[in-house]
Amino acid sequence: SAAPILTKLQRDCATPLPVLRQVADAMAADMRAGLEADSGSDLKMILSYVDVLPTGNEKGLFYALDLGGTNFRVLRVQLGGKEERVIATEFEQVSIPQELMFGTSEELFDFIASGLAKFAQKEAGKFHLPQGRTRELGFTFSFPVKQTSIDSGILIKWTKGFAVSGTAGKDVVACLNEAMKRQGLDMRVSALVNDTVGTLAGARYWDDEVMVAVILGTGTNACYVERLDAIPKLHSPNSASGRTIVNTEWGAFSTGLPLTEFDREMDAESINPGEQIFEKTISGMYLGEIVRRVLLRMAKDARLFGDSVPEKLQMPFSLRTPDMCAMQQDTSKDFEVVGSILYDMAGIDSNLCTRKIVIDVCDTIAKRGGRLAGAGIVGILQKLENDSKGVIFGKRTVVAMDGGLYEHYPQYRSYLQDSVTELLGPEISKNIVIEHSKDGSGIGAALLAATNSMYEH
Ligand code: BG6
Ligand code: GLC
Repeated sequence: SAAPILTKLQRDCATPLPVLRQVADAMAADMRAGLEADSGSDLKMILSYVDVLPTGNEKGLFYALDLGGTNFRVLRVQLGGKEERVIATEFEQVSIPQELMFGTSEELFDFIASGLAKFAQKEAGKFHLPQGRTRELGFTFSFPVKQTSIDSGILIKWTKGFAVSGTAGKDVVACLNEAMKRQGLDMRVSALVNDTVGTLAGARYWDDEVMVAVILGTGTNACYVERLDAIPKLHSPNSASGRTIVNTEWGAFSTGLPLTEFDREMDAESINPGEQIFEKTISGMYLGEIVRRVLLRMAKDARLFGDSVPEKLQMPFSLRTPDMCAMQQDTSKDFEVVGSILYDMAGIDSNLCTRKIVIDVCDTIAKRGGRLAGAGIVGILQKLENDSKGVIFGKRTVVAMDGGLYEHYPQYRSYLQDSVTELLGPEISKNIVIEHSKDGSGIGAALLAATNSMYEH
């Protein structure tokens, strides 16, 4: 029977309050270590060079290009200042062909620049650029980048399954500029930002109590507003605001996580072993794959799906997080949706008992992911609260959230919220608002392009 495997899985993945607390504390401690020195911690705590957040006064036409995980998007925004705010926006989304994820840097950037060039040609209607001006672009690049200024930065490494050759160690803005030149496209990158930073800027435009932004999608990451005097590794702190956004790159966090043999095997066989452990435990690219590995073990050792092991179940990443999520939404009496997903995915014929086990496996993995994500958020809030008593917990504080996993997986979302509430207690957690800021990072990047425009504001 598969029951003992399930019981052991549930035990290994358990996240009772003491475990959550340890994870939150470790997150706060690793943040501090990363702020001390670049190599001091799993957390890189990257300075974003975003010291001035959008105010609402931004005006003009700006572009954004968002290279995330599964898609890239191009966007234009006409900003009208305090009264009119966002006059118009338009965007196009293109999914990134699989082969480009394993190709060369030139191929990837040419593809992006050509999408941008086509999009820019269609500018009309409510969008207006004063004569003689160069178009300005906010570039959201959702990978770890060592920023060298607001409009330049070097790719540290790829994550989320990308293995493009020839980009690591290079300035990604230079890569984009060269590709735009090859396309004959005249645009200037005014701001290079991580997706978390774009999301924070976009959410902050509407609400100045936003202090933290989190992405839970293909990958995961968080950024937050930090005081310059709390960043020892910054030797010449100078910014009028006295604050800056720090990109934690928390996907690389690893301290004290409840991991299983399935996680360790997945990591060992991944293209980046030993890296992005938090990301591999809680984000959308990996949850379905962990479930697949558990089911495969159950099929092999406990004949969960009968005498033979379904062949497709042996293929890495054949069970995707959206499938896992869809199975958990099944409210039919006989779990027919679960049955048909298993059938479509790997030709599996299942009975009620098997289907229930499959759902329990999905729930165990989603629960651990959501609860650990919540603990990570509390770790950040706790760090900020300890630095300045009452400023975070004593009033309304907003965490802006985006990404497909958070958006589409209701159980994951509620496990996350439970964990935050358990950790903070009912009183404080009333002040902490987790808000879905859908596609905020595109507008956020355009706003930061406006803030850093080379023209008079
Ligand atoms: C989008 C943001 O909504 O979410 C992107 O605009 C971000 O900047 C993306 O990268 C992450 O979502 P996913 O699910 O595609 O990884
Ligand atoms: C990965 C990237 C990070 C990004 C996150 C969410 O963790 O390294 O930069 O913010 O995915 O897209």
